This record gives sequence, structure tokens and C-alpha cells, in this order.
Amino acid sequence: MCGIVGYIGSRNAESILINGLTKLEYRGYDSAGIAVYNDGNIQLKKAVGRLSQLEELLEQSPLSGSLAIGHTRWATHGKPSDSNSHPHMDEKGEFVVVHNGIIENFQEIKNELIEKGAEFASETDTEVIAYLLADMYDGDLVSTVQKAVARMEGAYALGIIYKHEPDKMIAVRLASPLIVGIGEKENFIASDIPALIEHTRDIYILNDGEMAVITSDNIQLTTTTGKPIQRDSFHVEWDVETAEKDGFEHFMLKEIYEQPKAYRDTLLNRIDHDVNKIDLSNEISLSQEQIRSIDKIHIVACGTAYHAGLVGKVALENLARIPVEVDVASEYRYRNPIHTPNTLVVVISQSGETADTLAAMKESQKNGVKVLAITNVKGSSVARDADEVLLTLAGPEIAVASTKAYTSQLIAIYLLGLYFAQIRETKNNQEITQYIQAIKELPAQAEKLLEFAPIIKEFSERYAHYEDLFFIGRSMDYAVSLEGSLKLKEISYIHSEAYPAGELKHGTLALITDGIPVIALATQEDIYDKMVSNIKEVKAREAYVLGITLDGNTDLFHSVDEVITIPRTLALLTPALAVIPLQLLAYYAALARGNDVDKPRNLAKSVTVE
Ligand code: AGP
Repeated sequence: MCGIVGYIGSRNAESILINGLTKLEYRGYDSAGIAVYNDGNIQLKKAVGRLSQLEELLEQSPLSGSLAIGHTRWATHGKPSDSNSHPHMDEKGEFVVVHNGIIENFQEIKNELIEKGAEFASETDTEVIAYLLADMYDGDLVSTVQKAVARMEGAYALGIIYKHEPDKMIAVRLASPLIVGIGEKENFIASDIPALIEHTRDIYILNDGEMAVITSDNIQLTTTTGKPIQRDSFHVEWDVETAEKDGFEHFMLKEIYEQPKAYRDTLLNRIDHDVNKIDLSNEISLSQEQIRSIDKIHIVACGTAYHAGLVGKVALENLARIPVEVDVASEYRYRNPIHTPNTLVVVISQSGETADTLAAMKESQKNGVKVLAITNVKGSSVARDADEVLLTLAGPEIAVASTKAYTSQLIAIYLLGLYFAQIRETKNNQEITQYIQAIKELPAQAEKLLEFAPIIKEFSERYAHYEDLFFIGRSMDYAVSLEGSLKLKEISYIHSEAYPAGELKHGTLALITDGIPVIALATQEDIYDKMVSNIKEVKAREAYVLGITLDGNTDLFHSVDEVITIPRTLALLTPALAVIPLQLLAYYAALARGNDVDKPRNLAKSVTVE
């Protein structure tokens, strides 16, 4: 996610901003910049890459001044580049803007301004905001901001300064975090507490639809329509490290709870609500003819991303009726896969830097096969080298154990499957509408599911002392149980195995004895009875069974020892919900065992070596 820092006071702003942006590095970024007002002029320095690159520029020519805004950019619109880095200015260099979020109607506004003769220097939606302010300026910065914001649709946090009103800085928030730091004869804005905690622990938290007009000795809070707001300041008790986790004990738990937002962000701008259709045409250049001619899809990935691919197989085959093979990247690249001229390879990678996945992509491209990448990092190697990219917009994932990236990969796969189904006409309009409606409900359903975390915590503490544990499921549930098993292994160090439930009697049942814990997923209605029979098989061997099924399946209560139910949704979509209890089970089991949850032993967040 992008990071915003701003300062107004009497001290030199440059170092305050750089230190603040450094504290926001954990959010992930691909470029950085600052703009400083000084004696009638605004000077701006920005660069793609790490903050150290920006610091080198500033060492060569420092910026002095006491009114400034700065930014670390996590690319969404426009590739990582110097010109796309923030801050952005209008053509005359008078209005300066830093922005976190997405302006959904930026293209419409940009076209209007181009009609009026505007010439833009970047591909970003943020630059359009600076130009819009200049275009709407009515002699007063505050009312101009209010008018411009009224035109903008989307999610944004803004920091704004204006050359001809250097006594103030403006902060605006709509669906993207922004806080105001209260100092002594100086004030601050930031995306997050860590950026300003060394200067002040007293802050105002802006809510959606609110703005702040900030001078060095006053902070005026209003709605973006100008209605004054009276609000008590908040005193931050956290230490810096806790602040980076938004108050959560670990990044992993924070990221589990960020999943509803990650779903919403990954869906944003990809559903045409007017016609109830998925629209990926701005991101995927494959023609309709090419999509109709795809005769095989190979999904290639590692670890959790591979497990997303297993869900993707069932989803893509059911939605788009295209045969799908799923391979672990380290195997795929050596098995001499059979490619037809109309094979599409889909690589999935959160980091976009996994060596085996990258290599598998390059091998496929050498064979003349088109590769579509589903990745969470816009500037990554996978994103740069793939023929097509469908981003997950989960924001940076810090914990080694992947959670929100996995579920966002599922959302991206569902979007892709439905988009292909529309074009290949393998689903009719009514079915597409039904899926779109169900996908739009997933974020709220995930939020509801997260409310059961305390109950899941209790279950986990019971499982924490086991050394062996089994997951079983059928179809999609088997794919999800593989992911649940990996989560448990990689952070709690409990040995676990995931098994197709129908396979148990072909060997593994020999291991099921008195008290062995088995987590049984039973969310697929069409094979629910089969699954209940498998559960009875393990219960007959005295296993201790936790069942995970859909709300309303109360009959399961009689066949298992404990039950967690998930909200009802369409069968193909259940993995996006069913995995959440498994993520929490793994997290709390690891906690109970005193493990380093965010940095488990022997593992790295991105495996950039073979
Ligand atoms: C998952 O929790 C692990 N961190 C690991 O399996 C990971 O999914 C795998 O290394 C693939 O990483 P990528 O998605 O960045 O390519």
C-alpha cells in the first residue's frame, strides 16, 4: 500500500518526511518522493526504487522548507517509474498531491481536462487530481478541494499543498487510512501511526468523507462538504512495532483480518455493475477470439499459490469449460509439458519473484506459449515478464505464511473464469449475474466469519499439543485442506497431512486411531453425503473430528466432535471462506506453541532461489 507523510511547522521538513516514509516501508512500495515549499516555490524530488535512491538525490541537492508532503508508492495505475512516482503537480507546479487509493473515474476526468488542453506527464490517477484542483481553483484552496473531491469516485487518502497558500496543508480521507498528528507549533499527516510516533502520540483519526485543514498551530476537521467536526484526539499507547501491525500482535493476524478489504480491492473496477458483467478488458489484452480458442490451461505455482491453482482448476473448468492442469513449478519446468498453440499458462505468485515459478514461465514462453500472471506485486519480475497480468490488490503481505494473498488469488481466478465464461458463452447471463452477486457478498461474509475467531482460538489451543493431524475433504474442499495443512505445518510445526477423503481407505486409514485429530471439510453440497460417510469412517476409528461445513448443516453436529460453520455461498466460491477458519487455527496453534508466527524457522517470504 502507498504511504503518505506531511509536515507543517518551523523545522526543516526533509528529514522528518524521509524518516516518516522509512517507518512506512513495511507497507511495501516501488518508488518514493517528497515536495517541499520554500520561499514562494515548491521543489520536488522523486525516484523509482528504494527510499535510499531518493535519499541519494537529496544528498546531492537537499530541499529546505517547513511545509512538505511525501509518499511511498505501491503501483496500481501505471508502472513503477520516476514519472509515475508521487508527489504529482499540476502543469504550473502550484498544486501538489500525494495519494493512496484508486480514483475510479480518473480517466473520464482526465479526458475532460485533455479536451481543455491539459498535457499529462504520467499514467497515474493522482496527477489528474492535481490538474483537477488547478482547473477548479476558485481563489480558495479549501473550497477548491471540496469541489474536486465531490467529482472524484473511488477510495483515497490525499495530502495536498498549494504554492499560493503556503500556510496550510490539507488531508482528505475516503476509504483509505489517514491520520493527523498534533504537535507543538507543528502538525503532521500520515497514512499510519509509525510515521509520526517519534514526534507525537496525539492524533486525530480521519473517518471516511472527512478532511482536515492544517496550519502549524491549528487543525480544523470538517466533512468534505465543509461541515465542522468536533472530535477528541486519540493518544497512542502502542510502541512503534505494534503500530506497524495496526495493533495486531502479528502481521499474519493483521493480514487475515485484512482479507475482506483485499477482496473488495481485488474486485474494484473489474465488475461492470450497469450490465452485471466482469470486465478485464483494460488489463487483459487477449482478444475474444484468442480467449475462445484456448484449448488448455496449465496453472503453475508453488506452495500456497499452487493450492490456489488447485481451486482454480475446479473453478476454470466449471466456469469456462477449459481443461486445466495444475503443476508445482519445480516439477513443471522439468516434465517437458505438452503445449498446443492455444495453450495458456497461468502462473500464480504473491511475490512475483519465486525462482521456480519464474523459470517455468520463461520455459513456457520459450515454447511460444502465452503466460498470464496472477501476482500481488506490480513491479515484480513475473509481472514485468508475463504476457498478461491480473493483479491481486491485497496490499503488501509481510508474514511468511500467505493468507490474504491466497484468498485474493482465488478472487482473481473467479474473475478470470467468469470473464472467460462470458466470452466463451459457457455460462448464461443469469448464471454470470448469480456469480457476481455472490462474489460481491464474500467480503461481508468473510467479516462475519472473522467474528468467530475467539471460538476458533479455543479449538486451536486444544490442537496445539498434537504432533500429527489430518485434514480431509473432497473436490474444492480437498484443495482447501491442502492449504490448511500447509498453514499449520509452516507456522505451528505440527506435522499434518491433507487427504482426499475418498482415499482414506486406500492406506491412510491405518493411521487413524483413538484421539487422532482430523479436520474434515464438508462444504461441497453435491458430495456432502459422501463426505459424511468418510467422516463416519474416521469416527469409527475413534478419531477426534472438527467438521467445517455450511451454515444450516446441523446434521453434521451428530457425526463430529466440534463444528465450525461458514456462511453459504456458491459451491465454487466456498474456498474463499472455508480457508479462513484454517488460517486462524494455524495462527492460534502456533501462538499456543510459542512460535515466531511471522517468521517461522527455515522459511523465507519469497523463495528466490531454486
Ligand atoms: C505460503 O504460506 C508460503 N509462504 C509459501 O508456500 C509461498 O506460498 C510460496 O513460496 C510461493 O510464493 P509466491 O506466491 O510468492 O510465489
